[in-house]
Amino acid sequence: MRHCPRDWTTVVSPLSSWQGQALIVGGGGIGRALRSELARRAPGLQVHLATRAPRAADDWPLDLCDDQSLTRLREHALAAWAPLRLVINTAGVLHGPLLQPEKRLSAISRAQLEQSFAVNAFGPILLAQALGEALERTEPSHWVSLSARVGSIGDNQLGGWYSYRAAKAAQNQLLRTLALEWRRRLPNCCVSLLHPGTTATELSAPFRGAVAPDRLFTPEQSAGYLLDVLEGLSAADSGCFWAWDGKAIPW
Ligand SMILES: NC(=O)c1ccc[n+]([C@@H]2O[C@H](COP(=O)([O-])OP(=O)(O)OC[C@H]3O[C@@H](n4cnc5c(N)ncnc54)[C@H](OP(=O)(O)O)[C@@H]3O)[C@@H](O)[C@H]2O)c1
Repeated sequence: MRHCPRDWTTVVSPLSSWQGQALIVGGGGIGRALRSELARRAPGLQVHLATRAPRAADDWPLDLCDDQSLTRLREHALAAWAPLRLVINTAGVLHGPLLQPEKRLSAISRAQLEQSFAVNAFGPILLAQALGEALERTEPSHWVSLSARVGSIGDNQLGGWYSYRAAKAAQNQLLRTLALEWRRRLPNCCVSLLHPGTTATELSAPFRGAVAPDRLFTPEQSAGYLLDVLEGLSAADSGCFWAWDGKAIPW
């Protein structure tokens, strides 16, 4: 297993050659853009969406914070989608009616920590537990979850956003550990944590005032960059944390 040392430059496996079933989890800005980009660039994939708010007939209802919902997903995936060629978890939460990124220690609360960890850290690993059996040992596959650069402990120079930073860091550790287990059980699977860059979605809306226009991506741009990165990865790269430009991010 690599230690994320290389800048991504080459296409290992073009998306146009990918065949089979794919699942996007989370129907937010980047999740929906990824679904459209995949339909365009990977016509051999049948792409499904799991979301708390199904809109299309074949959207699958999923709440990552509900164990029964995860069990129903597992059963459906094994019956209808297996083997999965690609899973991309895009679910994440930064703010909401009862959640605001903390600027200082005094703003931390147990309830906010729990909410952030439930979606950003527990969600991705419980999703892997639910869907692991739907991946094929002998065929190449990608297991991807969106993380965030602010989840990097080594890169934390600014402070603030305690819950979100810590929950994304926890996700990184959980999925790095998963990658080590799957190296034995699913040797052809590449587990990746990806940072999409600051992207104009609901999640970033209250916080992007200071972002330079050329550093703020549309969801479509971000989805395109993330798929470019995936095309350059193979199972030998499993367990790494990459930015949208293919550069490794320190843990
Ligand atoms: N936008 C950025 O600038 C940025 C930067 C760095 C990292 N990220 C990461 O990128 C990912 C995608 O974010 P985004 O920008 O697309 O945000 P978004 O538009 O707010 O989408 C996030 C989605 O997460 C899903 N979600 C939340 N709680 C869930 C739950 N309990 N069960 C299932 N799904 C749940 C929701 O999808 P449904 O409503 O369909 O269930 C929601 O739409 C997140 O992990 C985020 O942390 C984003």
